[in-house]
Amino acid sequence: MKIFIDTANLDMIREIDSWGILDGVTTNPSLIAKEGTDTPTRVREIAGIVDVPISAEAMSLKAEGMIEEGRTLASIHPNINVKLPMSIDALKATKALSGEGIDVNMTLIFSAHQALLAAKAGARYVSPFVGRLDDIGASGTDVLGQIVNVFLNYGFDTEVIAASIRGPMHVLEAASLGCDIATIPHNVLLQMVSHPKTDEGIQNFIRDYEKSKK
Ligand code: E4P
Repeated sequence: MKIFIDTANLDMIREIDSWGILDGVTTNPSLIAKEGTDTPTRVREIAGIVDVPISAEAMSLKAEGMIEEGRTLASIHPNINVKLPMSIDALKATKALSGEGIDVNMTLIFSAHQALLAAKAGARYVSPFVGRLDDIGASGTDVLGQIVNVFLNYGFDTEVIAASIRGPMHVLEAASLGCDIATIPHNVLLQMVSHPKTDEGIQNFIRDYEKSKK
């Protein structure tokens, strides 16, 4: 499974890239606002430090605007793909942009029906929001599994990005379902590294090593 980082923070991107595990970066307007910058500026900066796919979200709600904004964002760097929030206009824009060779990440996906339509329109990625489904008492993992199955049944090239990840269990569930990608916040990546028994084991080895030196 590919691992993307879900952040617009440059230090976090640099750090996770240094681990040797980074396959991509996703941003959204909320993550960009948290950094006090704007999408074109920040995705240009990200493209300058890592050589992986980077999602940049378009803000237009009409197909024509999405297409125009998508072209502008994609022209910043070849690694940039355009995030469009699921709608009829976004389907139309996806068809147009993918026809021009611009990758689309259809975002705010909450059902397999939406994912199927996005794939049919030519989206390169779909981003089901696992955590936000759990937040409303639905099962994000069930929806993720349905999407993975539907795409497998018909051999769609569209990759599934498990998004809105809240903890390591979401990542494990996505991997168990055969999801292509998980986009993971920095704090969850840190949680994935640690285990109390690893920390305990290291302390014990250090203690025994010190004893054996005497
Ligand atoms: C990524 O593509 C999404 O925008 C992001 O994972 C949403 O996460 P949130 O539900 O924690 O805001």
